[in-house]
Amino acid sequence: MKKNSKKAWFITIEGPEGAGKSTCSETLVSFFEANRLPVICTREPGGTPMAEKLRSTVKNRPEDGETVHSETELLLMEAARAQHVREKIAPALAQGISVICDRFTDSTIAYQGGGRDMGCETVRYFNDFATGDCKPDLTILLDIPPETGFARVAKRASADAASDRFEAEALEFHNKVRNTFLKLAEAEPERIKVVDASGTKEETRAAVEKVINEFIR
Ligand code: TMP
Repeated sequence: MKKNSKKAWFITIEGPEGAGKSTCSETLVSFFEANRLPVICTREPGGTPMAEKLRSTVKNRPEDGETVHSETELLLMEAARAQHVREKIAPALAQGISVICDRFTDSTIAYQGGGRDMGCETVRYFNDFATGDCKPDLTILLDIPPETGFARVAKRASADAASDRFEAEALEFHNKVRNTFLKLAEAEPERIKVVDASGTKEETRAAVEKVINEFIR
């Protein structure tokens, strides 16, 4: 193993809606299990009971029609994260258990910084406040045009999807999110590996396997 000075890795999966984050997560877990490396999977917003409550609050349209302001949305994401990092992610890493997290700080930069136009620097400040020194070692960015992602999401549409504030956003919002993700990858090519997720599940799986094999070798 190349990075054998480390006991555990913190790997995040990022990308727009419908990019195939679950398939990516399954592929990574299989890799860790095959190599007998302890691993847990988690997600953001969420991952602990309190953070999961914040997830419902921030994702769903309020039933009474109250507006969710961008500042509130950002702080709810960060509140969930502050709890998740301290309660679950950091303790696992400290015990030598790798963590695979479906979305993390790059999502906040892409969605709130880019999509909501709050600015990347503002978001970075709150990300740093919430995470302390807990930063991903590797990030897999599943890239897909929003139109293709949405066509996939529509196929598995559920009652939940109807009340999802993010899925309901216009294409322009999702294009800004995608472009922000790609800019982040350009700025940090060592950490963020872009995987083309517009092909079949098998193609994405193979591309993810390649990334993880190159990372932990
Ligand atoms: P998902 O986990 O099903 O993709 O849903 C999470 C939603 O929350 C998704 O639309 C992206 C959004 N989100 C943000 O806007 N900011 C964040 O920091 C995170 C973690 C997620």
